[in-house]
Parts: sequence; C-alpha cells; structure tokens
Amino acid sequence: MLIAITREVSPSVAGCELSFVPRTEIDVARANAQHRGYQRALATLGCEVRVLDAQPDMPDAVFVEDVAVVVDEVAVMTRPGAESRRAEGASIAEVLRQYRRLRAIEAPGTLDGGDVLRIGRMFYVGESARSNADGIAQLRSILAEYGYTVQGVPIQGCLHLKSAVTALDDESVLLQPTWIDRAAFAHYRIVEVDPAEEHAANVLCIGGTVVMPACFPRTRARVQGAGVDVVSVDVSELQKAEGAVTCCSLVFRES
Ligand code: GLY
Repeated sequence: MLIAITREVSPSVAGCELSFVPRTEIDVARANAQHRGYQRALATLGCEVRVLDAQPDMPDAVFVEDVAVVVDEVAVMTRPGAESRRAEGASIAEVLRQYRRLRAIEAPGTLDGGDVLRIGRMFYVGESARSNADGIAQLRSILAEYGYTVQGVPIQGCLHLKSAVTALDDESVLLQPTWIDRAAFAHYRIVEVDPAEEHAANVLCIGGTVVMPACFPRTRARVQGAGVDVVSVDVSELQKAEGAVTCCSLVFRES
C-alpha cells in the first residue's frame, strides 16, 4: 500500500514564499477544491491519502514534500531553506514517526524536498537557493547508510530541481533544458517539455502513471507519445503559490 501524506491549503496561502513566479491573487476556495481533486487522483492511483489539517499561520504548509525525504528504511526531516517554512515539519514528523524511524538535517544545512529527485537507488539534489552544500552532504551521509547514492546537480532560473526535471519512470525523465544541463541526465531517456510550457517538467509518477497539471497539453502529448500514461489535474491556484504536483504530497510505501 502506498501512503500519500497531504495537508489542506492554508487560509494564509496568499502570503507564500515566491521566488520565480510573480505574486497574483489566489482564490483559496478554488485552491482547496483543486487540492481535493489532486487527492482524488492520488487515491485513484492506489494511494491511501492522509489529509492533515491546514496550518493557518504557515502559508506554504500545503507543500508537504519539502519537509521530508522518505525511503523504505528511514524518513529524513529536512531543514527548509526558507526560514518561514522551518516550522512546517513538526506535525509531519509526528505522522512519519508512525511509519519510519526519523533522522534530520541539522543547521547549518538546508534542504528542500522539492530539490530531491529519486530515480532507483540514485538521488539527485538541486544545488538551489533552498538546498545548500552542507544539507546535501548530510543527506548523502544518511542515505549512504542504506546504500543510496546522492549527487548534487546545479540548476538555474527555477525554484527547485524538480521544477526542472522529474522522473517518468526509472529510465526516463521529463526535463526543462533552460533550467538544467541535459548532460546531468544523459544516461536516461530524456523527454523535453514543450517550449511553450515553461513549468511543465514537474510530474508525479505513481505506479507507472504520471500526474501532471492540466494546463500543459503539449507536454502531456509528448509524455504520452513516450508511452507513459497521464492523469491530469487542475492545480492552477497552487501554481500561483509556486507549487506543483510533486510538492503537494509525500508518497511512500507503508512498510
Ligand atoms: N511557495 C513555495 C515555496 O517557495 O516554497
């Protein structure tokens, strides 16, 4: 069984961190409705979806992916790069404790889960404004104990590594070449986003199907053309908060 931890959209989401997206008005009710549609999509793909209460004073707390990295053996609580997000992890840790032993990234390390891309036994970690060298080194040290390899990857022009590249399966990635060097993923089959759809590289792969935003039909066609099944979800209000489909959940095997 796959568990998907999610958290309701904060009523204060309009005060979210923004780095590469201009601030525009967010319709919170619509964001909530879209978020429920996202949760239904995860359930359709076989996840047991857990829904945590919103954190009214934490605008970005819906983006649960950023506060933890979960593998079969352990959950690593991150130390988000944005100070405003550091308190988000406490309630997630209480839930993860039911499934995994916990480790943690310590100061001065910083790490956002949005920078952490797993493909098989490899972890690629974005060298971003949110994840620093110390945080990446700590993750490398922890995951090495369980036989995983961690490799830093430079990015430019986007928030997280997973803004620029995500996995379609264990052999293929969906990549935005203006934000990341294709060479870092040259040993995978690379599908590029359509040039008209700048933010389309973030998809969430669950059991061989990818969840992706409905607003990227051209890239969807490319992904389907590569033989990958797609489920589309409308997350337009969450995208205004510089969110995407991976960051709204933490998905892992129950045991
Ligand atoms: N608003 C998402 C983030 O900046 O962390």
